[in-house]
Amino acid sequence: MGASDIREPNRTLISQGPYEILEVTEQERLERVVREHEIDAIYHLAAILSATGERNPQLAWHVNTLGLHNVLEVARELDLVRVFHSSSIAVFDPETPKDFTPQETILHPKTVYGITKVTGELLGDYFNKYGVDIKGVRFPGVISSVAPPGGGTTDYAVETFYEAMKNGRYTCFVEERPVLPMIYMPDGLKVTLDVMDADLSRLKNHTDFNLAGVSFSVGELASKIRKHIPDFEVSYVPDYRQEIADTWPHSIDDSAAREEWG
Ligand code: SER
Repeated sequence: MGASDIREPNRTLISQGPYEILEVTEQERLERVVREHEIDAIYHLAAILSATGERNPQLAWHVNTLGLHNVLEVARELDLVRVFHSSSIAVFDPETPKDFTPQETILHPKTVYGITKVTGELLGDYFNKYGVDIKGVRFPGVISSVAPPGGGTTDYAVETFYEAMKNGRYTCFVEERPVLPMIYMPDGLKVTLDVMDADLSRLKNHTDFNLAGVSFSVGELASKIRKHIPDFEVSYVPDYRQEIADTWPHSIDDSAAREEWG
């Protein structure tokens, strides 16, 4: 197993297998790396997330759509490569039912990130016709105790823990009450491996599986953290990310994923 990123690797990564510094928008080099290491599956996670995307829509469109297209082209040309694509709850929109959001529903996202994720789902399905085995899930906010948040709207759910530990206080960029869907990183990793093991010929959906973990608001999170850090204070100064959060669901119906691949 190998990994790639645009960043220099840390020691742990280097000790665990081959690592390449790779820009996903460079198709030729991507293909060279895949050939060189005889890669037979690409877990494509490189993306500009929702909040950074709204600050730089051109970059988000470029990295997210060209990046996926390059991965799919390499998979098509080399015939052997299976692909995982991470979609997102950002594909939904203000008119999508917000509670227990169904698998098949209205997708008119209002962020460039959401638009690139809908595009990715459709493009992935399209590449099925070339025999590319591509699968994907719509990730909720991913919460990790290891990876710091990286430019998403759900970053507050991770920042809250870090700020509670470091400073005992947190100024949150969304309001206290909105409830958004989240998933714990180890569960997200399990899901990623499980969907890739699913038999493609038995799936009705491919690139767009709804995925549920747990839903909560910052207010609820803060009150749980106060059980350990009683003086923890949160103030709320909503910014442009509140508007993004307002367009996303509260909870997700992932029965299609349960039924089709368990
Ligand atoms: N966590 C992502 C974001 O907030 C959602 O896919 O952008």
